[in-house]
Amino acid sequence: MRVLVTGGAGFIGSHVVEALTARGHEAIVFDVRADPAADVRDPAAVARAVAGVDAVCHQAAMVGLGVGFADAAEYVSRNDLGTAVLLAGMAEAGVRHLVLAGSMVVYGEGRYACPRDGVVRPGPRAVADLEAGRFEPRCPVCGAALSPGLVGEDAPADPRNVYATTKLAQEHLAAAWARSTGGSAVSLRYHNVYGPRMPRDTPYAGVASFFRSALARGEAPRVFEDGRQRRDFVHVRDVAAANVAALLARPAPGALTAYNTGSGEPHTVGEMARALADAHGGPAPVVTAEYRLGDVRHITADSSRLRAELGWKPQVGFAEGMREFAGGH
Ligand SMILES: NC(=O)c1ccc[n+]([C@@H]2O[C@H](COP(=O)([O-])OP(=O)(O)OC[C@H]3O[C@@H](n4cnc5c(N)ncnc54)[C@H](O)[C@@H]3O)[C@@H](O)[C@H]2O)c1
Ligand SMILES: [Zn+2]
Repeated sequence: MRVLVTGGAGFIGSHVVEALTARGHEAIVFDVRADPAADVRDPAAVARAVAGVDAVCHQAAMVGLGVGFADAAEYVSRNDLGTAVLLAGMAEAGVRHLVLAGSMVVYGEGRYACPRDGVVRPGPRAVADLEAGRFEPRCPVCGAALSPGLVGEDAPADPRNVYATTKLAQEHLAAAWARSTGGSAVSLRYHNVYGPRMPRDTPYAGVASFFRSALARGEAPRVFEDGRQRRDFVHVRDVAAANVAALLARPAPGALTAYNTGSGEPHTVGEMARALADAHGGPAPVVTAEYRLGDVRHITADSSRLRAELGWKPQVGFAEGMREFAGGH
């Protein structure tokens, strides 16, 4: 299989390239970081790149929560205009297979259960609650404490920030492309991806990277809120393997199929900080009660569809993966 990997010089894309190559496929990198002319927003560059490929694995994007609303236009440009230009080029060239780097951010707060009202969807947390250290979302109906559950792919979309909005729009664009061309589109909704080559020292990096950079400077990882926010940390090599599985499977022509892509083993951000600090030999994390508006409290996936339909299984356990990550660069 000949696959164009957009964002192939980035963190996840570079692992996809390695995984494809290791399995005997040909991967072509299309990434503005590797070549200033390889911009997914450039129709002529895209037309040249998609010619003769069997599939496109679309990882290129501007990632992270960003530093402020001023970033909005750049997110929309890179992520949504870029995806539209890419899909138009694929439609024109007759390329019918797409795997998209989706994200769990499309779910917002995710799934919660109230002891009285059943499954509920709490809205964004109020600043006053966050300031007062009330981090857990409450039942929107009765105000009771809620228990977080596993989010399935059919959970309603509820993007809470500009980045999340652009990741959701990418899926809608891919679904429209699939309907219009009869192509097969897969969105792998990654959870918190970590591992070798994770971006660092930028405001767009992920939390595991912030903690590792602090430890490398001899500083304690600073854990926001009370450290009990739950996430699913999935290793980048497992994510790369999921991409290969999706590229080979090509489900449901004419539609977009979404798969949660997580380890299936939720951990708290505090646990992650401790695992990294232990592996690094300290200093121990400090819990700061700081918060970022737009962060969700808990988000953990039910990734069983990916396992059942594509035969994917994560290989890297939490303890092992965090040990490797703490010691790496
Ligand atoms: N890292 C995570 O935890 C995570 C979670 C969910 C989803 N994702 C998604 O995974 C994908 C890859 O993210 P990553 O973590 O590897 O980030 P990354 O920043 O390392 O990789 C993104 C790559 O895209 C390239 N790129 C950006 N704009 C481009 C453009 N206009 N044209 C061509 N290339 C462009 C960048 O140069 C970069 O190399 C993104 O789509 C992101 O939204 C990542
Ligand atoms: Zn209730």
